[in-house]
Amino acid sequence: MITKRLLAASEFVRDGAVFADIGTDHAFLPIYLVTSGRVRSAVASDISPSSLSKARANIEKSGCSDIITTVLSDGLEKVIDFHPTDIAVCGMGGETIIRILSACPGILDPSVRLILGPQSFVPDLRTFLQDNGFGIIGESICRERGRYYSFIAAQFGIKEPAYSGAELILGRKNIENGSPILREYASHEIEVLETKARGLNVSGRDASGVHKLIDSLREYAE
Ligand SMILES: C[S@@+](CC[C@H](N)C(=O)[O-])C[C@H]1O[C@@H](n2cnc3c(N)ncnc32)[C@H](O)[C@@H]1O
Repeated sequence: MITKRLLAASEFVRDGAVFADIGTDHAFLPIYLVTSGRVRSAVASDISPSSLSKARANIEKSGCSDIITTVLSDGLEKVIDFHPTDIAVCGMGGETIIRILSACPGILDPSVRLILGPQSFVPDLRTFLQDNGFGIIGESICRERGRYYSFIAAQFGIKEPAYSGAELILGRKNIENGSPILREYASHEIEVLETKARGLNVSGRDASGVHKLIDSLREYAE
């Protein structure tokens, strides 16, 4: 049941964690972490009652009902009281992830690890983390069925130098650690930005900022 994308997220979860999966939907990630003995316990939560009943059915089928608790919750609202040490928020837009994190002061705790899998607004999420006192401790890029997915592991209270434009798009850790698909990802991001620049040009708006970003990505591209 675990996909390549969710496996990429799982790699940032610490062994023995009290794990929480926000927006769990099918609950594949907590089921995988529990059945592989990686985490001590898990909370699988979702805002949608139908997603949560799907999660419950899968958890029951996997025989993990005694270790995985299901919770109907908007973001972390009803989850934070379980004192999770590692919290995944994956498969949502970056702006939704920012809203969920902003609403929960309980994550301003250096011992809590966030594992984030934004499907859009990735640079905005990195900016949000930096502006709010989080340091990015690990990153990866995964390609599944022709789509690129970014994963970000962050903890509160780690100060880092400000990110450059290229780092906000590609991820400083992906650059530093030489992600094996960094070059193709950078080329893909250049194509996205070129489309954006053409749109701005057509509507008579200034595209110079986008062109600057494109130039800053070229050294990392294929
Ligand atoms: C595309 S699914 C992702 C499922 C899983 N996390 C993954 O990455 O495969 C997104 C899930 O997030 C849930 N969701 C959206 N906004 C939410 C919120 N504010 N709080 C909790 N869950 C939310 C949706 O109901 C849906 O089940």
